[in-house]
Amino acid sequence: MKQKLLTFLFLLGSFAAFSQNTGELTAKTDPNRVISRHIYGHFAEHLGRSIYDGFYVGEDNTKIPNTAGVRNDVVDALKKLKIPNLRWPGGCFADTYHWKDGIGPKAQRPTIVNTWWGGVTENNSFGTHDFLNMCELLGTEPYLAGNMATGLVQELSDWVQYVNFAGESPMSKLRKANGREKPWNVKYWGIGNEAWGCGGNMTPEYYANEYRKYATFVTDWDNSSKLFRIASGANSADYNWTEVLMKNIPKNLIEGVALHHYSVIDWAKKGPATGFDEQQYFTTMKRALFMDELITKHSAIMDKYDKNKRVALVVDEWGGWYEVEPGTNPGFLYQQNTMRDAMIAGATLNIFHKHSDRVKMANLAQTINVLQAVILTEGEKMLLTPTYHVMEMYNVHQDAFLLPLEIKSNNYTVGNESLPAVSASASKDKQGVTHISLVNIDSKKDQEVSININGAKYKGVTGRILASKNINDHNTFAKPDLIKPANFKDAKLKGGNSLNVKLPPASVVVLELKE
Ligand code: AHR
Repeated sequence: MKQKLLTFLFLLGSFAAFSQNTGELTAKTDPNRVISRHIYGHFAEHLGRSIYDGFYVGEDNTKIPNTAGVRNDVVDALKKLKIPNLRWPGGCFADTYHWKDGIGPKAQRPTIVNTWWGGVTENNSFGTHDFLNMCELLGTEPYLAGNMATGLVQELSDWVQYVNFAGESPMSKLRKANGREKPWNVKYWGIGNEAWGCGGNMTPEYYANEYRKYATFVTDWDNSSKLFRIASGANSADYNWTEVLMKNIPKNLIEGVALHHYSVIDWAKKGPATGFDEQQYFTTMKRALFMDELITKHSAIMDKYDKNKRVALVVDEWGGWYEVEPGTNPGFLYQQNTMRDAMIAGATLNIFHKHSDRVKMANLAQTINVLQAVILTEGEKMLLTPTYHVMEMYNVHQDAFLLPLEIKSNNYTVGNESLPAVSASASKDKQGVTHISLVNIDSKKDQEVSININGAKYKGVTGRILASKNINDHNTFAKPDLIKPANFKDAKLKGGNSLNVKLPPASVVVLELKE
């Protein structure tokens, strides 16, 4: 009897030790399921040290190498990231921004107060030309967020004409007089930002009506309707906002509807960006994974009014939001970036991939020195955050065909709450190479994943990993390379169609498989 019990306990123990996550990959492409590269978009607001000190250090700066005032190190780093689009000038700032303040000779530009972000002086030395020329330097598409709350229809309509009109008109003449002959052809236009909050505290019904008016005049001057107009979308789970917009805005006036969701523990008590505990980490991950439910529910509403999925869901603000770094201006939203942020990034991108039939664009908030930044700067120094490395490792999925990948995951449990430990997504690029991205958010345990591959036989597998000893680890200006991708050896392929991967705690892995 005793022997039997011991055998049973041994088997139970072995089962627990080898309890595996399993996955089914369908390696068959569907031409209609492409992961838009625009899901990998970024966001640059006139906020804290994002523009000034971040992107732009001024043409006269002799200490920091720059091109027309834009830091060369930043340009190089963002080019490696292959950023597909960049949203500017806000955020909340957008609804206070009058674009004509930022054109013409810099010495003559008016000085304003940045009321939303620290009440600091904004001298408008970085304006429309500076931004759009910088986008050309970065090889990225601009996404201009138009002022709806404090700007007139005429002002927004003039901006479109100023940047996009090739023929002769008052605005194109002004552009040429300011040194730019050819238009920039800006496709992406936001009509207001967070209209439910900093963008005017509007009701969805009121906003939808205003939107109709503004969007009518955000149009190509030759009426070819190539512009992509994005309505200010819901705050996280405000499903009524999406419902009212989809119902009340005629489809010929809208190409995208936005959604903002931040992984914040509690708006009143956000917790520190570093030195957080296990419970705080768990709650952040719970908020990040909630993105899946949010997209599912907002998409279901959109499906009711747009079954062919013509209107995109544009998650144009997402990321982790914590307390600012001690001693920094609370209005500047400067925070460090740890392995927790790498987990948010990897898990969120997997969610976006899964919903890529509806989510066609997204913008991480924000690129440099603000919130979940990919780059931090300090004078002449610059560092790449763990989030940068995830975005770089994942960029192999840009414009690739989504491959369905279902994962049955073990739980990551803290107290009496659990989350799936493993998330994953897969795609096949135009060269026929398959990439699988895996995230283990469990901060303590390895997770083994065995994936069964249907419809392909692979010859070999290679990979890269981002991991560190502690979930609180981060890169600093003293140790900028503490966290960086390394080669990954713990993926084994058997018979060409059975893959076994061992993921260390709190790690992000991207695998490459060739047929
Ligand atoms: O990204 C920071 C701010 O968060 C943006 O300005 C605003 O749109 C949001 O509330």
